[in-house]
Amino acid sequence: MADFWKQLKKPIIGLAPMDGVTDYPARQIQIEVARPDILFTEFVCVEFLSARPEKLKRRIYFGENERPLVAQIFGHTPSAFAGIVEKIAASGFDGLEINMGCPSRNVTKSGGGGALIGNFKLAGEIIRATIAAIESTKKNIPLSVKTRIRESQTATREWFSFLAGFPFSAITIHGRILKQCLSGPVDWPAIEDAAEIVKSKGILCLGNGGITSLTEAKEKCVAHKLDGILIGKAAVGNPWIFKENYKPDIKEILDTVVRHGELAQEFYGERNFSAVFKHFNGYVRGFDGCKQLRMELLKSKNIDEVKKIIHGFVEFEKERSIELAEPGVAAG
Ligand SMILES: Cc1cc2nc3c(=O)[nH]c(=O)nc-3n(C[C@H](O)[C@H](O)[C@H](O)COP(=O)(O)O)c2cc1C
Repeated sequence: MADFWKQLKKPIIGLAPMDGVTDYPARQIQIEVARPDILFTEFVCVEFLSARPEKLKRRIYFGENERPLVAQIFGHTPSAFAGIVEKIAASGFDGLEINMGCPSRNVTKSGGGGALIGNFKLAGEIIRATIAAIESTKKNIPLSVKTRIRESQTATREWFSFLAGFPFSAITIHGRILKQCLSGPVDWPAIEDAAEIVKSKGILCLGNGGITSLTEAKEKCVAHKLDGILIGKAAVGNPWIFKENYKPDIKEILDTVVRHGELAQEFYGERNFSAVFKHFNGYVRGFDGCKQLRMELLKSKNIDEVKKIIHGFVEFEKERSIELAEPGVAAG
């Protein structure tokens, strides 16, 4: 298998993996609206995937139109990492990524995600087990890691010198320390420092954290000598962020709400329709009447209700604009 990372044009601007967000319907919407250079699945727990593979079918489902698509995995047991490599490679993913940056207590309490930062022994065992398993599949699926900077510059350098000793194709660096979780200032100089170490070993380096536009992403790549950027939260409810200087009108937003709802219902069924609410919450912002509309959408049970709510909103807005345009009313 050719290493797709090497074929990507720089700067590589991708959609960051987000649990509960970058599922199949959202990735499809993202592609329809504006295709990022690379997409990731939500992360998948290797221990759980080994024990209950049927439960995780949806999380590793993808369409051919999503390539290049990377499956992201997390966990704390080297043998469980090794055990699922075959499955991931056989599913046809273009790449495999280990998460070493998640701050959630559910993940770190057993030693996985961000708890691996600085745990050279376990991190090394996981990486080596994963690499050996990849080699035995003969599929040569490229391996990457997503991690974070550490509290101090020295520790950051030590961590990235360690990681750069392995044959990763790419490393993404989130420029926040673990206890910041997902918000607060992003330390771009620390990312740049770490990137220098990573790139000196021929490994691609992507930065991540707090980016709010495509222009800003490209500027950060130049300013901090990065091969690319992953955009996270700012893309939730705003897939248009991957278009340069583009703002959708209300019609486009509402059409996307409906389209996303259709895909969510097809994928999750009515039972889990609420999986799309995070996106509805992001889409319906910044225009007159959005608060009421958002509240109604967040109570919808299926796509038919969504369509009814949107139709009602459009009709109401039409009437309101006619009223406003009537002589005497507008002037008043
Ligand atoms: C809801 C949510 C879920 C996330 N899930 C993952 C995940 O599964 N894997 C991962 O590596 N990072 C995950 N992240 C972190 C993002 O990939 C990204 O590193 C972080 O949000 C910082 O980028 P941003 O400031 O552009 O959002 C998640 C973030 C959010 C907001």
